[in-house]
Amino acid sequence: MRKAGTDDKVLAINGGTPVRSGLLPYARQQIEEEDIAAVVDVLRSDYLTTGPKVEEFERCVAEYVGAEFAVAYSSGTSALHGAAYAAGLGPGDEAITTPMTFCATANCVVYMGATPVFADVCSDNLNIDPDLIAAKITPKTKAILPVDYAGHAVALDEILELADKHGLVVIEDGAHALGTEYKSRKVGAISHMTMFSFHPVKHIATGEGGMITTNDTELDRRLRRFRNHGIERDSHQRQAAGDWHYEMLDLGYNYRLPDINCALGTSQMARLPQNLESRRHIAQRYHQAFSAMPGLIPPIERPESLSAWHLYPLRFQLERFSVGRKELFQALRAENIGVNVHYIPVHLHPYYRERFGFQDGDFPEAEAGYESLITLPMFHAMTDQEQDEVIEAVNRVTDYYFD
Ligand SMILES: Cc1ncc(COP(=O)(O)O)c(C=O)c1O
Repeated sequence: MRKAGTDDKVLAINGGTPVRSGLLPYARQQIEEEDIAAVVDVLRSDYLTTGPKVEEFERCVAEYVGAEFAVAYSSGTSALHGAAYAAGLGPGDEAITTPMTFCATANCVVYMGATPVFADVCSDNLNIDPDLIAAKITPKTKAILPVDYAGHAVALDEILELADKHGLVVIEDGAHALGTEYKSRKVGAISHMTMFSFHPVKHIATGEGGMITTNDTELDRRLRRFRNHGIERDSHQRQAAGDWHYEMLDLGYNYRLPDINCALGTSQMARLPQNLESRRHIAQRYHQAFSAMPGLIPPIERPESLSAWHLYPLRFQLERFSVGRKELFQALRAENIGVNVHYIPVHLHPYYRERFGFQDGDFPEAEAGYESLITLPMFHAMTDQEQDEVIEAVNRVTDYYFD
């Protein structure tokens, strides 16, 4: 470890001047005048909630990913709930997912009274390992919920082959993957259902918001029913019984995404290609910088995946540093770099430990990934100068603590 004062740049955590004067967030949305105009138009229209903007946004996302149907939901989380319902999950069923995700992925299984089963991840890209999924399939398994972690396409061919063989539904959590390609095909038209999230840290923002894409007519029907209290309004029934007629066929929720948010989403979709280009440019610059710094492992993208780069989780060879991940994280924060960590593996959350009996060591690759990574700022509006500040901070901190 360098002694404080031997470097002309004293770390901010040791009392030096931070690389930046204000905190650079790890992610943030980009709102342009055309987005504001689109929302204002809705505010002046007849519809605030379900109006023409919902279908317009759904069409826009469906066409972009090449899926037949898209169903808008009030958030990515409620969309996952809808997908778990549409897949028919219920008590006694199991669904296999990754521990290396946000808890919402596994929670949707629990919402339906089913049991989440985890399979560990691959050590390179931290995506669920299809061989380990295969080992977890039982007669109770009904669904697989893979996640395109950080935006890297998961091994869809292998997962869909397993699903086919065992009659399972694949609900792909593509919260990180709007614009991701797998073997030159966009994620969203490959799995039985794919979820996208439009939370402000994602590739497009609607405030809260989510969507499920599918090519299956029956799944589309169930998804629409679930987001609207379990109600269907069939035009023949309406004609027969009077225009007031509707029927609640199942227990559903109010998970509708309002016109206001949908108008914002459609407006944002126009800039998605350039947002993806910016994220790929940022990833490339990070790779170049960090490949040259000892002790760092930049995220790995497999040849079959073209990542949408939602996150940039940088791994540290901690045995080569004089301090742990926590101290490195704190030193970067002190430099005003809004670093984060994605994710605390789901099975280690108290709820999952207590309810399902998971323990430390259950999923070693996910735990090793979690323990060694720090997520760096990554958002499409980030400037080269802001990124240079992140690189400088990482350089300063790792140089200081390198053993
Ligand atoms: C992998 C993953 N799944 C699900 C979600 C939930 O999406 P939302 O925040 O839109 O509810 C997130 C949100 O960050 C996520 O990262």
